Amino acid sequence: MRIAVIGSGYVGLVAAACFAELGHSVVCVDKDRNRIDELNKGGIPIYEDYLPELLAGHRGRNLKFSTSVSDAVRESAVIVIAVGTPICANGEADLFFVESVTKAIARSVDGYKLIVEKSTVPVCTSAWIERAMVLNGCHRHQFDVASNPEFLREGSAVSDFLYPDRIVVGADSERALRILRDVYRPLIDGSYARGADGVPKPEAAMVPPHYIETSPQSAELVKHSCNAFLAMKISFINAVAAVCEAVGADIEDVCKGIGTDTRIGPRFLRAGIGYGGSCFPKDVAAFRSAAREHGYKFDLLDEVHRINEQQRQRFLKKVRTALWTLKDKRLAVLGLAFKDGTDDVRESPAIEIIKCLLAEGCHIVAFDPAATERAKGVLADSVAYASDAYAAATGADALLILTEWKEFAALDLARIRELLNYPIVLDGRNLYSPREMAAAGLDYYSMGRAAAKISHPTPLEPRIKESK
Ligand code: UDX
Repeated sequence: MRIAVIGSGYVGLVAAACFAELGHSVVCVDKDRNRIDELNKGGIPIYEDYLPELLAGHRGRNLKFSTSVSDAVRESAVIVIAVGTPICANGEADLFFVESVTKAIARSVDGYKLIVEKSTVPVCTSAWIERAMVLNGCHRHQFDVASNPEFLREGSAVSDFLYPDRIVVGADSERALRILRDVYRPLIDGSYARGADGVPKPEAAMVPPHYIETSPQSAELVKHSCNAFLAMKISFINAVAAVCEAVGADIEDVCKGIGTDTRIGPRFLRAGIGYGGSCFPKDVAAFRSAAREHGYKFDLLDEVHRINEQQRQRFLKKVRTALWTLKDKRLAVLGLAFKDGTDDVRESPAIEIIKCLLAEGCHIVAFDPAATERAKGVLADSVAYASDAYAAATGADALLILTEWKEFAALDLARIRELLNYPIVLDGRNLYSPREMAAAGLDYYSMGRAAAKISHPTPLEPRIKESK
């Protein structure tokens, strides 16, 4: 199948590489010439497991990059729209790019095309695309529009694409549904997973995945509802964590009790400084706004958002509790990305917290295994950047863990204690148990659990350091 993917961001680039991996002939288009030049030269603009291998394996063979929508449309049977849908000031999704791409597609159509909407969009966008195609000169029989939401997580996007729990396709025409079955055939029949030289199958992968065919509106709603539900799960557990702190309970124990109920499940129940990233914050706002537009006030989503914002303040309060005043304190920050496994800092709770700490006069030395370069684009030289966790901790008045990188859960605690000016760790991701931190001689503050404090001869008596 010849497929054009319009947009080379996270979704577009991963989808293009994965469609090529499934054996299709793919052209990935972006109007950003620098990005396309970089991709053509072998560059990899995003940090994603297995993406370098897929690009190296298919680039110049059945995967190419171009800036021309019209060429791509003419040579492809399926046109996948995967452009950004940023958020407007009022919370609505901004569909400007979707509309411009639709116009460009309409102007280039020279035979039947299936247009597949993969960008995260509000319900009824497929209907708008259909209308825009007609308004821009296409006959209705020249195209179909389908909605095919993606559920990729950054960091594991390639595996998520090739080993999904489910594939959801929404279309009104049998022809469109038939084409999409062909596109996803190697996943639906399990043949990709059986191949010896593909991306390895994750242990828990469901093969074959559920294949769900719906109307376009239902498919669009699946995407927003899914992200909103996951965000709600996180905010719910964060609210429970606040109650735990008030009554002396332990959120990790409570989570075990809740998550083992198979109706609820253990995933997305990690308490912490809240969700970030390019999807949850935007999608919760966009879903709220789309529901309002269609006459439903989805107040629950306001609360999901409010609790999420509150988590950052709750964490900052802990920093103040641990350190008394913040002005001139030197803080080591572990984590800049919005979560582990990615270099993405969009809507990162870590960055938000750092900005607040800087505003209160702290000096920050930060380390992230992947996101430092991107964070520099936001924080510039307002913080210092360390080469590893231990360099960040050296001489700091406290260590703050803000991203759930696995390596931050395996620190040499004795060494950290030795390097810190005060033996204080604030963990916004609950990577350690209070007991092990106390045993390591560290004051430990986390989310939804009582602080573990070692008894100091004098409260916060600084360790004498020659360098200080
Ligand atoms: C999300 C959806 O999971 C994915 O299906 C969709 O296609 C895009 O949005 P992503 O943004 O990559 O993916 O990140 P995800 O792994 O879902 O985490 C989102 C945020 O929630 C992160 O900031 C993470 O730290 C936070 N989180 C996640 C928690 O705070 N607690 C949890 O239990 C899980």
